[in-house]
Amino acid sequence: MDKVQAQHRIQQLREEILLRNYEYFVNDESHVSEAVRDALKRELIQLEMAYPEFITADSPTQRVGSALSGRFDKVQHKSKKWSLADVFSSEELEAWEERVMKAVGENVEFVTELKLDGLNITLWYEKGKLVRALTRGNGVEGEDVTHSIRTIKNIPLRLFEPVTLEVSGEVILSKAAFKKLEGFANPRNAAAGSVRQLDPAIAAERDLEMYCYTLYEEGHRPVKHTQALERLKVLGLPINTNYELHDSAAASLAFLKKWQEERDTLPFEIDGIVFKVNDQDQQEELGYTAKTPRWAVAYKFPAEQTTTLIEGITIQIGRTGAATPVAELKPVNVAGSRVSRATLHNEDEIKRKDVRIGDTVIIQKAGDVIPEVVEVILKLRPKATQPYLFPSECPMCETSLDRPEGEAAWRCPNAECPGRKRENFIHFVSKGALNIESLGEKVVDQLIEFGFVHDVADFFTLKLEQLLELPLFKEKRAQKILDAIDDRRRVSMSRFIFGLGIRHVGEQVAKQLVEFLLDRCTEENPSPSTLCELLMSLNQEDLEEIEGFGEQIALSIIEWISLPSHQQLLKKLTENGLQLTWPPRKQRVEGISGKTFVITGTLSVGRGEIKSAIEHAGGKVSSSISKNTDYLVQGENAGSKADKAKELGVTALSEAEFRQLITSTV
Ligand code: IVH
Repeated sequence: MDKVQAQHRIQQLREEILLRNYEYFVNDESHVSEAVRDALKRELIQLEMAYPEFITADSPTQRVGSALSGRFDKVQHKSKKWSLADVFSSEELEAWEERVMKAVGENVEFVTELKLDGLNITLWYEKGKLVRALTRGNGVEGEDVTHSIRTIKNIPLRLFEPVTLEVSGEVILSKAAFKKLEGFANPRNAAAGSVRQLDPAIAAERDLEMYCYTLYEEGHRPVKHTQALERLKVLGLPINTNYELHDSAAASLAFLKKWQEERDTLPFEIDGIVFKVNDQDQQEELGYTAKTPRWAVAYKFPAEQTTTLIEGITIQIGRTGAATPVAELKPVNVAGSRVSRATLHNEDEIKRKDVRIGDTVIIQKAGDVIPEVVEVILKLRPKATQPYLFPSECPMCETSLDRPEGEAAWRCPNAECPGRKRENFIHFVSKGALNIESLGEKVVDQLIEFGFVHDVADFFTLKLEQLLELPLFKEKRAQKILDAIDDRRRVSMSRFIFGLGIRHVGEQVAKQLVEFLLDRCTEENPSPSTLCELLMSLNQEDLEEIEGFGEQIALSIIEWISLPSHQQLLKKLTENGLQLTWPPRKQRVEGISGKTFVITGTLSVGRGEIKSAIEHAGGKVSSSISKNTDYLVQGENAGSKADKAKELGVTALSEAEFRQLITSTV
């Protein structure tokens, strides 16, 4: 065979393997013999060995590449990755259905799908080729796990059409594949653990699978969700075909019941049923809350329950001082994991259930929710038990606990409490904050015990000699930790603020605060001290200007920064070399900046494009019209939103008018 013939043969073999893989993995045609696919692949490997110049990344021989050397890259998602709101009863489901119908009218079709219990992954295809795979991350930014995801056999490296698109779905591990592994609590953890490996050979061994459920394709907007699913299949992507269409939530309950009863017969784990509005225009009409679409919900299967013995009750002090009672249990298996502790929530809950040490209790666990004690089996109560008395002092620092009026939790008010500090340190290095993976809880505990870390600023002056003093530490591990810390000497302002652990300041609130501060600061290279000055210059009123900030958040921030120890901490962090970074500054386009837009109808380009143009120019896009809306951008066949805009006197712009507004002012 000469070179030209070899190239031709390689091409043909790839086509044939692509097709056979599709029949086998996507169409589930079991007659396709694995031996034949293997034989074709062997021939391809030999030819590629002889002619390595013809190897391309999308060849089926190129699934397992080389291992990554460090941690995964963070990559911005092209569109926000939403999560789903949960419902736990048919009443809650019907309440959702009512809200849907109130917003878009009676004529609604619902799709029911299995809620696969794995990890959410987004794939990018460019001109038909798989170029990237990202975890969901925080919905805005994910981790690049392309190297592991490429090894998953039912994911095509090439689509049947040379299209550019983004697709999301669930990567799962079958029950059978899970059984072969050791050391994981359940298939979901095992799937996540396999994907998040630096060496792709590990994922390749583990028989992962993916099922796709959301498609974002440039220039192709299906009218219905079910059409999107069909389109996915046509392109060669695997979908789960166990979905159904219903014209009411009540009618779809049969689907739920069926799978609740038959979930054991499925080869993989599901943890509920997803209900989606089928019509994509209705979906847009319904829009989104901060985290979830209003057009879909997850009906979670009821939690699994079991009984066990309460061996003790301990108090856990959180980073903001909340004292949570925890039942120390005789270890049991429930919902696929081993459980030895369960939350008792607070004092009132313990009283209400009359939980005592020595009791036999029913505990429950739903998916990844923390296990809880549901009730005491009174008949099994031994003699001579005592009602539980909530301690009056913090078990860590012996300060008297407070219980502010109207709150359920007792709190340790001592900001220097070692229990609170420990939780704060762990929070500071956790995933959403500085994300220093090698600093796990155990290492943090050791650093505290040895007196090397008294506040979070001390992490940045740790020395190799100190780490080498810790038990079981060798140079390699110690250096790895120092490198990881070094890597975080420059960190985004929002991660840093979130990491400070200010009460009521979560990731989202931190981001909004940063946008607000950015407008008030010209310093391009801020430090923790810059942040300190900025925060000290704000009063409650200033902070309440920020969307979504109420009295609670504003006061909490002010209280935090007014403590001298916190001001000193920020100064010390600056001295220890910590630098902060701003997000990119938005352009301020007059006429758009600060204005709120709603987009409706069919436009010549995707709504996402219009949305990002508005946001780049400093405007906001909302999914529903209100008196706060400044403009409605109205495409063809606009529905109820156009009427509502008229009613409220909101200015409607045609697409052409909008374009003029955005370009004439730049
Ligand atoms: S749709 C915009 N469909 O459940 C809606 N999600 O609890 C995005 N999941 O993050 C998700 N099966 O990882 C959808 N058939 C399904 C699903 C599904 C499992 C996961 C997904 C999501 C999580 C939310």
